[in-house]
Amino acid sequence: MKNYIQIKNTIKSFNKKIEVSGDKSISIRCVLLASQALGKTKLYNLLESEDVINSLDSIKKLGIKVKKYKDFYEIHGFGINGYNTKKKLTINAGNSGTLARLILGLLVDSKNEIKLVGDKSLSKRDFSRVTDPLKLFGANIISNKNNLPLKIIGSEYLRPINYDEVLGSAQCKSSVMLASLKTPGKTIIKAKKSRNHTELIFKFLKIPIKIKEKKKYDNIEIKGPVNFTGFNYKIPGDISSSAFFIVLTLLSINSKIKISNVNVNNSRTGILKILNKMNANIKLKNRRIYKGEELADIIVKSRSNLKGIDCPKILNSYAIDEFLVIFLVAAKAKGISKFKGLSELNKKESPRLEVAVNFLKKIGVKYLRNGDNLKIYGNPELVLKDNYLIKDFRKDHRVFMMSCVAALSFGGKWKIEDKDSIKTSFPTFIRLLKYLGAEIN
Ligand code: S3P
Repeated sequence: MKNYIQIKNTIKSFNKKIEVSGDKSISIRCVLLASQALGKTKLYNLLESEDVINSLDSIKKLGIKVKKYKDFYEIHGFGINGYNTKKKLTINAGNSGTLARLILGLLVDSKNEIKLVGDKSLSKRDFSRVTDPLKLFGANIISNKNNLPLKIIGSEYLRPINYDEVLGSAQCKSSVMLASLKTPGKTIIKAKKSRNHTELIFKFLKIPIKIKEKKKYDNIEIKGPVNFTGFNYKIPGDISSSAFFIVLTLLSINSKIKISNVNVNNSRTGILKILNKMNANIKLKNRRIYKGEELADIIVKSRSNLKGIDCPKILNSYAIDEFLVIFLVAAKAKGISKFKGLSELNKKESPRLEVAVNFLKKIGVKYLRNGDNLKIYGNPELVLKDNYLIKDFRKDHRVFMMSCVAALSFGGKWKIEDKDSIKTSFPTFIRLLKYLGAEIN
């Protein structure tokens, strides 16, 4: 079956309400924590994407029972020491850095050796960022040049660590937090600001955690070992998936969208802050708190007078997965947009800073890249008329979806390969675009 799409027309004006699927970060965290809880957990609105299915398959391999019901997944855990780590076990994290890095934190006490593998893209990503701190707990980890596949065998004698997380990586922070659950004593983390879902779920599960928030980093203390019981959780919509629809609406003519039930945790809403500084007028309605997470309905209208931004670096990790679509807005905005310190973008499913500049070049948008800084010279009159072929992007789901938004907003005739990549995070993406009126073959 063909694995590409073609787009030949921009989207016509629309006024629709949608819901996007469950948040990927929260889905994976809920699955992993449920697997270490004592008793049954029910997860509603769990994202049914490959990254999350791989998370469910991984915990099943570790002896955890998972049952799918009509409205929820039930996960039956046996407590913090409840994994049954059979000999010669291989866990496949597929494309998911979050799954791979977080589950390693839960394997620091594994009695048998476990092999961790991933797909081609994941196997190119750096794992020393998590294996270095996990080794300090006492885990034994052997990898080939810090990449997957790697092998981990845990320790019976874990010791707590003092860890300075300097990348602003929630995956690194969370992996260490999960390891601390198994470790007697006080683990202390000084973490550069990043998404804080793990902290919020720990609080909701009444895991003893102390957090002191500073301007640029948080001090986190966790006292282990910790046991906690099964829980119920309804996963909210994913702002990273919403981002494609937010930007499509902004860049379309006379259009409006309401995206209901989205997680708008402050550590995820960098995109809203950045776009509003660019003159978008994105509103949050029906704001409420659910188990420590803030939820809202997002309302966006098209905007013709967007302006460039000097993007504050502090927002980088709060918008880390959204830069590809933010760059599209910068391309159409009046004036120059400046982004600084984007090196982490090249550490994703594909080297996204490289991919972004090649993309801008392809569509004729002027830019200046200097190391990990990028200037985009916006053009409010930007209209595309040529043929564009998008391929060889390591099947990065967000590159595929960003390309669809560009095609539907800027015009031109597009062929975009690797359609299946959306299964990673947002399997209903094309269906929703069509619901808005997009013509996609
Ligand atoms: C994630 C953290 C981010 C993000 C990824 C999901 C998470 O990665 O890019 O898509 O769920 O913790 P880093 O922690 O490497 O920045």
